[in-house]
Amino acid sequence: MKKEKPIGITGLGMYVPKKVLTNEDLEKMVDTSDEWITTRTGIKKRRIAQKGVPSSTLAAEAAKKALADAKLKPDQVDLIIVATITPDMPFPATACFVQAKIGAKNAACFDVGAACSGFIYGLVCAKNLISGGMYKNALVIGVEVLSSVTDWTDRNTCVLFGDGAGAAVLQEVKSGGIVSYYIGSDGTLSNLLYLPGGGSRHPASKDTLKNKLHCIKMSGTEVFKSAVRLMTDAATHAVCDANLTCKDISLLIPHQANIRIINSVRRRIGLPEEKVYLNVEKYGNVSAASTIMALCEAVKEKRVKKGDIVVLVAFGAGFTWGSVVIKW
Ligand code: UT7
Repeated sequence: MKKEKPIGITGLGMYVPKKVLTNEDLEKMVDTSDEWITTRTGIKKRRIAQKGVPSSTLAAEAAKKALADAKLKPDQVDLIIVATITPDMPFPATACFVQAKIGAKNAACFDVGAACSGFIYGLVCAKNLISGGMYKNALVIGVEVLSSVTDWTDRNTCVLFGDGAGAAVLQEVKSGGIVSYYIGSDGTLSNLLYLPGGGSRHPASKDTLKNKLHCIKMSGTEVFKSAVRLMTDAATHAVCDANLTCKDISLLIPHQANIRIINSVRRRIGLPEEKVYLNVEKYGNVSAASTIMALCEAVKEKRVKKGDIVVLVAFGAGFTWGSVVIKW
């Protein structure tokens, strides 16, 4: 990657709804057990938004905290990118709703649809738009209200997902910042993880409702195998592009989908457990909000210090995948 002025994260914030749904709660809803969910996924609980609370509400709360952390006023924000698969509506962009809620009247706003890799795609977009000179202060947000698209009668999926939001302010920094990144996609795998209803292919109808086409469909085992391969490849690629090796990683922050996927990636990369951040136990899979919520908590818990090499890595529906190397 050619030498450019450094762009880095200068503020972080996250927000999760208060309501906690535990594995024991799920035992009363579908034929499952805490033991199965814990051993197969590492998830113990997840947060659930109140009915009718949209993604933009969670995103705005996270955004306000990130702005306060960066000591920026809403009207200084000139770009808002929201990564989500649960937008408030098909249009306008959820980023526009967030803009109105936080009063960022000088911002250009759009959403990215790269599923669980969305926050990383958003970071890459914002970094390049700032590097290009058009923008100075960007807000990149990952947010999901996955409870609104979960089939609560399907034990294969309903135990996995949760709601939440994380936000990062991106600006020019004196040193460090984003040193490399890598994003990729394979649309031939789109049938493994998708939400078929409500778009132009299957517009909402009595049939789409009856057949639950407005809920997440997933071939878990196939997704699992691809996830391990793609996250390992993405992290290795980005680290190589930074002229580093995986041994240089201070903290790996993977998409928190499943503890077994994360452990397989960790072993392939050759990292000890203490160099991988985990919060899947508390929040489950929060798709586009997952890596940014994990980064927020890692920083809050002082797992990241100045000069550290932090690597975010994710994969998701599409398939999409991506990794960003940040010198903290
Ligand atoms: O962000 C990307 C989104 N998705 C993912 O990351 C998911 C990736 N995949 C996974 O995490 C795993 O594949 C799952 C956790 C979804 C499933 O784990 P698995 O080890 O691949 O299990 P499986 O699908 O092979 O199912 C094993 C058994 C099946 O029973 P039979 O057919 O062997 O009798 C399932 O019906 O477990 C059963 N099962 C459950 N049992 C209790 C599936 N879900 C449940 C459940 N509770 N919630």
